[in-house]
Amino acid sequence: MKNWSMNNVESLSDKTIVVTGANAGLGYETTLALAKKEAKVVMACRNASKAEKAKQEILKKAPKAKLEIMTLDLSSLKSVRAFANNFLKTHKRLDVLVNNAGVMIPPYSATEDNLELQMAANYFGHFVLTGLLLDVLNNTAGARIVMLSSKAHESGNIDFDNLNSEKSYSKMGAYSQSKLACLMHAQELNRRLLVAGSKIIAVAAHPGASNTDLARHTPKALYYILYPIIPLFTHKPENAVLPQLMAALDTDVQGGDYFGPTGFGDMKGKPGKVTAKPHAYIESVAKKLFDVSEKLTAFSYKF
Ligand SMILES: NC(=O)c1ccc[n+]([C@@H]2O[C@H](COP(=O)([O-])OP(=O)(O)OC[C@H]3O[C@@H](n4cnc5c(N)ncnc54)[C@H](OP(=O)(O)O)[C@@H]3O)[C@@H](O)[C@H]2O)c1
Repeated sequence: MKNWSMNNVESLSDKTIVVTGANAGLGYETTLALAKKEAKVVMACRNASKAEKAKQEILKKAPKAKLEIMTLDLSSLKSVRAFANNFLKTHKRLDVLVNNAGVMIPPYSATEDNLELQMAANYFGHFVLTGLLLDVLNNTAGARIVMLSSKAHESGNIDFDNLNSEKSYSKMGAYSQSKLACLMHAQELNRRLLVAGSKIIAVAAHPGASNTDLARHTPKALYYILYPIIPLFTHKPENAVLPQLMAALDTDVQGGDYFGPTGFGDMKGKPGKVTAKPHAYIESVAKKLFDVSEKLTAFSYKF
């Protein structure tokens, strides 16, 4: 749909939506937009006090918001499993899972599961989370899964010999790989869901560029050099979330679709359907990535 906006969206009062990383940046704006449409939003956050602060801010802007905080640290598969158990015990439906949380270019670290941090938090954590929530998604008519990718996927490469930076660590290389992995996962998962006869659709979105806390690990000097021109190539978080909201809510969305801004350099502007770089559509790589991810996380999808 051209000129898609939240004005096109009817009440979401019967919907339950999980947003990961809901306390800050794009997750916060996504939660606010959904709350204004009366959706019940489960704020899946790693830091309970930050989440509570965000919840209170949203309640000031949307006093009737139905918000629930549940702890989730995507860099720990134990935490991912605990979140899923908790969610499944307390909820009978899940209309949309918005896999939004992310971290960019931190110093190297390995998680307790022996995964590189960016791959763990951005990709592997969401990979397992999604698999654990498939049953409740399957039990909810019209359910969707939205993966957050990035323009950074363009320079990304799925390097099976260095997937978790076992050989060498490039901050940006690992980030780009994780965002390419999220994009490929959306497509591979959608194909597997179709084959399994599931009605769930998996889609992807990217926000273009927006000046959020994602830049927290950017060298300060670089940040201050770029600061005066940042508004030229970025848009405000409330606009940057429109592609992921469109992916989550637009009635014309098809499984495997990819959404992003359609203005200047695809970094800002109106949301719409976009095309990723060709290497993001190589099915043999996506299939291998899925299989390798099951092994590395010791988790198997049950379709
Ligand atoms: N901003 C952009 O220009 C841009 C461009 C392309 C793609 N993206 C993608 O958009 C998504 C949202 O980014 P943003 O710009 O909103 O960044 P942000 O402001 O830094 O917010 C990131 C959110 O993810 C959470 N998070 C980080 N690590 C986590 C973990 N291990 N477990 C659970 N939650 C975790 C953060 O929690 P804490 O507050 O506790 O740290 C925060 O809530 C990311 O996937 C990012 O890759 C953003």
